[in-house]
Parts: sequence; C-alpha cells; structure tokens
Amino acid sequence: MLHTLTIDRDQSKGTIRKDVYGHFAEHLGRGIYDGIWVGPNSSIAHTEGLRQDVLEALRAIHIPVLRWPGGCFADEYHWKDGIGRPEDRRTMVNSNWGGVVEDNQFGTHEFFRLCELLECDAYVSGNVGSGTVQEMQDWVEYITGPKASSMGGLRAKNGRNQPWRLKYFGVGNESWGCGGNMRAEYYADVYRQYQTFIRQYQREARIQKIASGSHDGDYHWTEVLMKSAAQLMDGISLHYYTIPGTWEHKGSATDFGPKEWFVTLKKALVLDDLLDQHGWVMDRYDPERKVGLVVDEWGTWYDVEPGTSKAFLYQQNTLRDALVAAISLNIFNNHCDRVTMANLAQTVNVLQALLLTQGSEMVKTPTYYVFQMYAAHQGNRQARVLTNSLMYAMEGEAISQIHNSASFDALGRCHLSMANLHPDHDATVEISVQGAEGGWPIGQAHGRYLSASRINACNTFDQPDQVVIRPMDATPVDGGKIRVVLPAKSVAQWVMQQAPSPTKL
Ligand code: AHR
Repeated sequence: MLHTLTIDRDQSKGTIRKDVYGHFAEHLGRGIYDGIWVGPNSSIAHTEGLRQDVLEALRAIHIPVLRWPGGCFADEYHWKDGIGRPEDRRTMVNSNWGGVVEDNQFGTHEFFRLCELLECDAYVSGNVGSGTVQEMQDWVEYITGPKASSMGGLRAKNGRNQPWRLKYFGVGNESWGCGGNMRAEYYADVYRQYQTFIRQYQREARIQKIASGSHDGDYHWTEVLMKSAAQLMDGISLHYYTIPGTWEHKGSATDFGPKEWFVTLKKALVLDDLLDQHGWVMDRYDPERKVGLVVDEWGTWYDVEPGTSKAFLYQQNTLRDALVAAISLNIFNNHCDRVTMANLAQTVNVLQALLLTQGSEMVKTPTYYVFQMYAAHQGNRQARVLTNSLMYAMEGEAISQIHNSASFDALGRCHLSMANLHPDHDATVEISVQGAEGGWPIGQAHGRYLSASRINACNTFDQPDQVVIRPMDATPVDGGKIRVVLPAKSVAQWVMQQAPSPTKL
C-alpha cells in the first residue's frame, strides 16, 4: 500500500522561526554542573570552564536560543549570588532539586559567555515567586543597561563593560505551581506589575517579555492572562511533557514494549490539539497574532535511570524519543503562525537531553540527531502537506502512520521531514510538490534517516553509535514525483530541488 504526500508550496502559514528549535538548561541535577560547566581548572577540555565537546555539539545543530536558569529553580534564584569573584559567591540550597548545595559558580557572566560561544540568543527567566520587583529590575539593568547606570556600573566592575543582548525575559515560571501557587487572576496582576520594570535600554534590541503561561489543557490560565495583559506581553508560555504513564509512575525510558511505544507517540500527538486550543483562546484577545505562544518546556519525562537520584531527572534517550522529537517539531513547524519559540527540556543530562556526559565522555542522543536533521527548517517558509497515510492501530486505537512537515528555504529548495511511527512496517511514500503556477517537478533529492533495529535502541558510552543518521535513496517516478521507502520506526529528512524546465527549441 502506498502513502502519498503532496506539498503545496502556495499554502503557507508563514515563517518557521528559528527559535522554535530552542533549548532549556536549568540548575538541576547534572544539567549545568558536569553537563555544561566544568570550571576553569578542570582536566576536561573546556573554553573558560565551558565543556568543549558540548559547545561543539550544540554549535553543530545551530542552537538558536537558550533558556536559563529554570524552571522551578528560577523562582528561588537570586542573581546577585552568581556574580563577582567566584570564591566570594554565596552558596544556597537547591530546594527544588534534591537539596544539593549550589555554589553559584555558573552565573550571569558564565551564561552570557556560553551564549556568545554558541552564537545563540539568551532567554532569562526572572524570579517572581520569591524575588522582588526591584531585584528583577536590577537584573535586567545589570544585563542590558549602560555602564553609567547603577547596575551597568556593577557589571563593568565585574569585568564586562558592554551590555549583553537579551532577547527574551520570562516573568516567572509555572506561577500556578512551583513559581508561587498563584491563581490566574492574581498572577495576571503580578505580571502587569513586574513587566512594567523590564526597562528597555537598547532601542535596537528590545527585550521580548514572556508571561508565565499554562500547562496541558488549562485554558482558563491562558484566557485570564490574555484578557488581562495581552497588550503588555510578547509571548505567553505553555508547558507540555509527554509521559507514557502517570506522574507517579511515568514508565521506564528504556525498558518498554510496543504498547508503551504506541501510547507515548499518541501522547506526543496531543500537542497538536493543545496548540490549536490555546491558540483559539489567544485569537479571541489577539486576532492579529502579535503575541507568540512559547512552548518553553516540552519533551519526554520518564522514571529516572535506575541508580540515579530521583531529584536529578537523568534518563536515557532511545529511538522512541527521536520519534517524539520529530512529531513535536513537525507540530511546531505546522503552527508557525502562533508558535514563536519552543525549548526542549533539557539540553544535557536532564529529561529528554540532546547530550549525555560521564566524566570526560559525551554521547549524542537520538534526539540530538533529529535536531541536526530538522535544523534545515529554521527560518524557512512553511508549506502545507496533503497527506494520505495508512493508519497504525493498537488495541482499538489508531494514529496516522506518517507524520510530517515541509518548508521552502531562501534558495527555493523544499525540505520535507517525515516520521514513520509504525514499529514494524516500512512505508512506501510517493512525494510530489504542487503550486498554482503548475507543477514543481522534483529534480535532485537527497535524503537521510535515523532508525535502529530495536524500538528502545539508544546510544551509550560503550556503544555511542547505535542510532545515527544514514543516507537514504529515492526512486524517480513519472510526473516529477519521487518514491521513498521509509523504514519502520524512523525519522527522515529530505531536501529537494525543482527540476530545470526543458529548454525550448
Ligand atoms: O524541567 C523540569 C521542571 O519541569 C521545571 O523546573 C519546571 O518548570 C517543570 O515543572
């Protein structure tokens, strides 16, 4: 049986912002310490204390934006503890994540240096839950104010004359939960107050203000915030985690069968509906879509790896995670008219990580390779894909076997991402491109894919190349189409060029 995909280059929802391929790093477990920061005296290769292998791996996938310092940690973080001479910095107890001692060796200067080295934008989450308006205002001034300002002067004293560029500032995190247990109505007023003091010191680089938003299907939160403060924000966040089981028993990251595979992918697909529904609520108050929906925490969440601290959220990453990443990124691409940023939780050693480290070793997870392939969509014009897919059924439920998104880059090339969700069946897919001005016969086409023989295949420190990108072939068929065989449980990326028109005689 044949699946058919027709890419319509005339039907687009707009530009896929590069920030949809963003990431998130919290002071949690081994996410920052070990994962990113090893310090200037480490024997592990580093640049100014920042792990070299991690810097190189993140640069290679063109990480566009990084969110820091939390998460729940953000609402108990006092930024002044993390500046000045490292030996003079105050310690604190990280009460959200295992009560470990945080020595504040990685602070504002180290974070912005990281962003400079990654050539990515910064997204800082401010402390609303336990911090004052003054503290937040001061932090923004410290980061972006001129040397002549009080906080800009302090920054210069600490070795940095020039202000940094701050693209996004988050006003709290999960203010309905760990960020203060507020009601939507209360937080809406708090948001209005705090955002007032995010002063804009740099005319040419305005800070975009992100309100702490909803999670899952809590539409009331979105409604109240939009109604009360839409005109005072650039974005509102949404958190959605894919959990195969329940919050109490989430399920193993690696020890699972076909049932858990199906359930996990089905739950990942729920994001599509959530973005529609939150988007429709937003449309009521912002019909011109000036406010972005910012999915600043997403990804899989399983029980921690046996033998590791429950509070550190360290989990392995398998081919199943690659499929979840592909589905989620396709969904973001296809909601580019509302979703302006998304941040996978979390970059290194925490939850659905891109990278895992152990001492001086580092492995790239299957999720990392999906981001490597999908980077081709950053900044492109999204295109609608008309999909005729077979269904993948399990115990009376069914989901589409093929999941996809497509875009056109500035050179006119077409990029198509596809995931075959079925664990056992390959999919033969016929691909064509159409547009109002007649056909777009496919000329050159290059494909790559990610798969493995087992659904729970993963990259370990002993076997780091179990799941890696491989090349893929296509067969040209009549009418300027191509036919490809998408292996079972795989993610593929195609770049296609239009065939040159025949020269007129
Ligand atoms: O990403 C882990 C935690 O999940 C974050 O700290 C919090 O915002 C969310 O509940």
